[in-house]
Amino acid sequence: MKKILLMAMAALMATFTLISCSKDDSPMNPTEQVLNDGEWTGNGEGRSGSFIVKVIVESHQVTKVTVVSQSESIFAQDAINSIVASAVGKTDVMSVEVDGVTGATLTSTGLIDAINMALYAAMGKPVDGEKTYKDDTCDIVIIGAGGAGLSAAVAAAETDGNLKIIVLEKQGIIGGNTNNSTGGINAAETDIQKGLGIEDSKKLFYDDTMSGGKYENIPALVENFVEHAPVTISWLTGLGADLSDVGLMGGSSVKRTHRPKGGTAIGPHLMKILKDATSNKNIEIRTSNKVTDLLSAVDGSVKGVKVQNANGSSYNLTSKAVIIATGGFGANLDMVTSLQPSLRGFATLNHPGATGDAFDWMKAIGGATVQMANIQIHPTAEVTNHILITEAVRGNGAILVNHESNRFCNEMNTRDVVSAAILDQTRGEAFLIFDQGVRKSLAAIETYANQHLLSEGATVAELADAVGIPAETLSETINRYNAQQKVGADEDFGRSATEMPVALETAPYYAVRVTPAIHHTMGGLSVNTDTQVLKADGTPIPRLYAAGEVTGGLHGANRLGGNGVADIVVNGRLAGIAASKKLKQ
Ligand code: SIN
Repeated sequence: MKKILLMAMAALMATFTLISCSKDDSPMNPTEQVLNDGEWTGNGEGRSGSFIVKVIVESHQVTKVTVVSQSESIFAQDAINSIVASAVGKTDVMSVEVDGVTGATLTSTGLIDAINMALYAAMGKPVDGEKTYKDDTCDIVIIGAGGAGLSAAVAAAETDGNLKIIVLEKQGIIGGNTNNSTGGINAAETDIQKGLGIEDSKKLFYDDTMSGGKYENIPALVENFVEHAPVTISWLTGLGADLSDVGLMGGSSVKRTHRPKGGTAIGPHLMKILKDATSNKNIEIRTSNKVTDLLSAVDGSVKGVKVQNANGSSYNLTSKAVIIATGGFGANLDMVTSLQPSLRGFATLNHPGATGDAFDWMKAIGGATVQMANIQIHPTAEVTNHILITEAVRGNGAILVNHESNRFCNEMNTRDVVSAAILDQTRGEAFLIFDQGVRKSLAAIETYANQHLLSEGATVAELADAVGIPAETLSETINRYNAQQKVGADEDFGRSATEMPVALETAPYYAVRVTPAIHHTMGGLSVNTDTQVLKADGTPIPRLYAAGEVTGGLHGANRLGGNGVADIVVNGRLAGIAASKKLKQ
């Protein structure tokens, strides 16, 4: 007998089909923990889209895994092959081991999720994405399980341990754009900076942020942000974060970008710390649960959310406060180009869920937005695979050259300036050039090596040949840069001595072809310093808060590197505290 079960799951891009073919013709009556023989299908979300896998179970163990469809880059193939190979022989679900340095964390997690969905189906057990929720109540609903949402959840629970807090995430995995973030978290006057002998001040941080934002930033938001940044760093280290390495990013006068030891990417580390903290506090996170609207009361306050289950059915979650932490809209290219037509044709570095859903919800409740057309492009994206090459590579000493092998700008200028300079070069692209010394100084570069993004040469001439640019000119360019670095004066483009930490003279040499791409949406919901969402007349909408990239006004016309992750944790934490304190009043 052959049984076919078809389960349609309306979770985001994913459809999940489960097909069971019982080999021994016995009725399917799965026993807990035992994999039932047959052919099972599951899905998961990788870095660039959904995985669909087919898993064959024979004699209660996995004998074959086929990746039916996927959208990952070819560079993720090694990770995919290795996970598929390790699934064979399993008699239980796989464990997810997050490794922030392999460069394939999201790919690996998505693929393992897909395989596990198939294996849970083989056991006859429901998986998270299948769970169907009904109307419910809680104290605080947080929309979005990225860095801002989880910071808010943890801080709210710390402020009042009795609150029932539910975090809703429309994607199948938590993390949002935070999963992709690399650079670090800006803060001034931190104990870590002091320990490293870095002299900084909140005033200097404020001035850099305002100047980087071309003074379009809302001053009160910047003051509040700068003021709460150091305490947020201590809060994160108290939760177990390693922020011991402090680097330099474009537009910052001093080193203030806090990141894990060795310069490892901040995002996966931060998400692990915040996820652990939510688990310790028993905060419920519902993935594949998409908020479709806000529920408002007759007095104009917000009293909860309308949610779509993974199976497409809906329920209402009423609450005393709602915190919107849904991120930006950098993956919604229609919205981006309608606001900023000059960005037509640009690639995006955003995860697929960054679609700006929250802005639709504002129409009914009168929530205001600010500076929506302020959309940032990041100068150094590897656009074939949509991978951000962190500004920290330049901060640690790399230069940019064009197709003619010449430098063309101060590489440490702000992102808008460097992006514009690259777009003026031949083919609108450039090569990020560095040596083994820079590579050794920044662990994030190992990720790019694992992703096979680095071209390499034992000599400068070999590197030039490898990427197809003039060798003699590249040698002259690097020699000239090195001479200027040694005297601490860049006569050509004005890069300061601090911004030229090393000469590029330790072989091998490396290059990455880079192009500007859509990175961050700086405009968003209008908020005050208590993270309350405001109406056009400046009055707050009762019980509604927002934090992170969904808000606008902090960054002005141009966000500084390291201020994005700082924004989500500083303001996420403040939103959690504000909402929780309000409930006590
Ligand atoms: C980067 O690492 O260059 C991006 C970090 C940021 O946007 O703050």
